Amino acid sequence: MDQPTKQNVFNENLLRGKTAIVTGASRGIGAAIAQRLCEVGANVVICSRSTESVSITANELENKGYTIHAIAADISKKEDVETLVEQAIEQYSQIDILVNNAGITRDMFLIRLKDEDWDAVLQTNLTGTMYCTRAVLRPMIRQKSGRIINISSVIGLMGNPGQASYAAAKAGIIGLTKTTAKEVGTRGITVNAIAPGFITTDMTAKIPEDLQSKILELIPLQFFGSPDDVADAVCFLASDAARYITGQTLQVDGGMVM
Ligand SMILES: NC(=O)c1ccc[n+]([C@@H]2O[C@H](COP(=O)([O-])OP(=O)(O)OC[C@H]3O[C@@H](n4cnc5c(N)ncnc54)[C@H](OP(=O)(O)O)[C@@H]3O)[C@@H](O)[C@H]2O)c1
Repeated sequence: MDQPTKQNVFNENLLRGKTAIVTGASRGIGAAIAQRLCEVGANVVICSRSTESVSITANELENKGYTIHAIAADISKKEDVETLVEQAIEQYSQIDILVNNAGITRDMFLIRLKDEDWDAVLQTNLTGTMYCTRAVLRPMIRQKSGRIINISSVIGLMGNPGQASYAAAKAGIIGLTKTTAKEVGTRGITVNAIAPGFITTDMTAKIPEDLQSKILELIPLQFFGSPDDVADAVCFLASDAARYITGQTLQVDGGMVM
């Protein structure tokens, strides 16, 4: 079932002058987050592993008149992350918002799971999120403000057969979120997670149709989410409206897990 389309409901100046990094923004949820942050006035730096695909997304947004900077960076590599953050600071002098969105799946039942697949999922989804978070903390502490938003998943809350690595990484992100929130709360930095449910993107397109129908039955709102639904939650958490919220996990899942 297709989700209803969704326009931006936020004021176009909500994040005017703020600089945001969005990882994994060449498509899907990351691209929608980048677009929404542009629509509310932020300067946006996006990354993905592929120079070509991240540049296509950036060009599309530039053609709509937005300020956007594309960088090829693999967040599972510490050196790439350090370069990403350095280049963002060079370009815009500061980083106000980090959205840790990049993520992968390598699904397999645990009994047959290969070590390299476990390692790849943990390295990208969890360690990559930690690398990006650690890299922005010094600049954010210096400026005494910052918003870090980590994209977890309902799978990290409920588990799912065939997704041990993904569930472990996404649950790990929630622990990382809470700990970072406690460590930097006195520095004016908030750290929150979003746990999307089933959102229609390339990642979920891989799920067989019969399984998609079964998942739909678990969703009280009876439709799959759009990347815009996650982008709107990011916008809220990045704004001053959410200044008293930290260490939380906001579910954007149509009521799938409660
Ligand atoms: N779709 C859902 O239903 C759903 C539900 C819950 C949570 N999530 C989470 O939401 C996030 C986005 O999901 P999506 O559905 O939009 O996925 P997607 O369509 O597969 O897009 C993933 C994005 O991450 C980038 N990426 C992957 N590995 C990367 C790396 N090592 N370094 C930098 N960029 C990387 C990809 O670009 P390149 O391939 O060019 O690197 C792409 O831009 C993920 O963290 C996912 O786990 C999704």
